[in-house]
Amino acid sequence: MRDIEFHNREKEIKEIRAILDRRPTLITFIYGPINSGKTELINHVIEELPEEYVVFYINLRTKLLASYDDFIESLFEMEMETDGASRKRKETLAELVSSVTKVAGIPINKEFLDYVFKDNKPKNAFSYIIKLFEEVRARGKQPVLVLDELQKIGDVKVNGFLIYELFNFFIDLTKEKHLAHVFVATSDSLFLERVYNEAMLSGRCRYLLVDDFDGATTAAFLGGYGCTDDETALAWEYCGGKPVCLVELINQKLGGGVVKEKCEDIFKVRVSQLRDLLDLLGYVTPQVLLAGTEYLVERENVVEILKDFVDRDVVSFEGYRPEKHFMVKKNILFLDPKEGTVRPQSRLDLLAVREVIAGV
Ligand SMILES: Nc1ncnc2c1ncn2[C@@H]1O[C@H](COP(=O)(O)OP(=O)(O)OP(=O)(O)O)[C@@H](O)[C@H]1O
Ligand SMILES: [Mg+2]
Repeated sequence: MRDIEFHNREKEIKEIRAILDRRPTLITFIYGPINSGKTELINHVIEELPEEYVVFYINLRTKLLASYDDFIESLFEMEMETDGASRKRKETLAELVSSVTKVAGIPINKEFLDYVFKDNKPKNAFSYIIKLFEEVRARGKQPVLVLDELQKIGDVKVNGFLIYELFNFFIDLTKEKHLAHVFVATSDSLFLERVYNEAMLSGRCRYLLVDDFDGATTAAFLGGYGCTDDETALAWEYCGGKPVCLVELINQKLGGGVVKEKCEDIFKVRVSQLRDLLDLLGYVTPQVLLAGTEYLVERENVVEILKDFVDRDVVSFEGYRPEKHFMVKKNILFLDPKEGTVRPQSRLDLLAVREVIAGV
């Protein structure tokens, strides 16, 4: 079967490249609804970067992060050099740096390992990373640090929340030292809302939205794989420009299947999930934590929120806060803190909301 290639994202790529062209000053938060293509975009930009950039990319998605040690382990990569049949460690920072270009994780050698892990002190790890980045700069190259799914360390504590230590470190790397570019991606919009309202980050970061494709981009994507105008219209009606969903439809098409059947199938699944959630709320009353206080999630308020989407695609984040928070947590709604709005995570979710609410 044909491989599906990376599509478009010209505007976002231009924006990221423009940031990389300048001196590092702000932390860049890459956010957007789930499955909008954030990780794919980051990986694509990294692949295309010229040699002068040395990228350290860490994806925390699949990591189990219960403690500080887990986080430190996921940050660092033990660097080993294959030397003929025997394996020899790289002993100095200079040796390490000379071999890195685009790496998953921060390379570390034996010399620094004990120091970094000593005493549960994030500062040890951070000062090592600064040394490493300075070495990269001394070789005329620009370090770039990318952390995907950062919200996974949201609850990790070392004398207080690790995330604050990390934000301070990012500010140091960018605004203070202008040493490295820092990109942070997250699909958790509640985490992003916390970041957005965090006083220590105010004026120290920028926000880059990676949204689902627009209509023209979607049509070009599908057209490239032989979808007819009717199939494209149907895909747009059901999936909007959600890349992951479009990829599924393209695979259906390439496999000789009927696009319409696939659309109806995924729609049915989403409707059923949403109906099930509303039914459950008739029996249980979940709680959510807002600014340290527990609030109840009332089914009737959830219904009121969903009713708003019958004739609108986007609503304000104000009002029924616990219920909106709950629906965001359940990945049905996407919260955009920059705009102060909520909307369904996808066109499919919007349609499912309308279908379910019509029967309530
Ligand atoms: N520009 C693109 N061109 C082609 N396919 C894409 C593109 N962007 C995303 N996709 C497809 O959509 C899938 C989901 O994208 P990706 O994992 O990057 O989304 P994400 O926004 O990082 O998701 P999450 O919210 O879970 O972090 C990819 O595996 C890929 O198949
Ligand atoms: Mg991702």
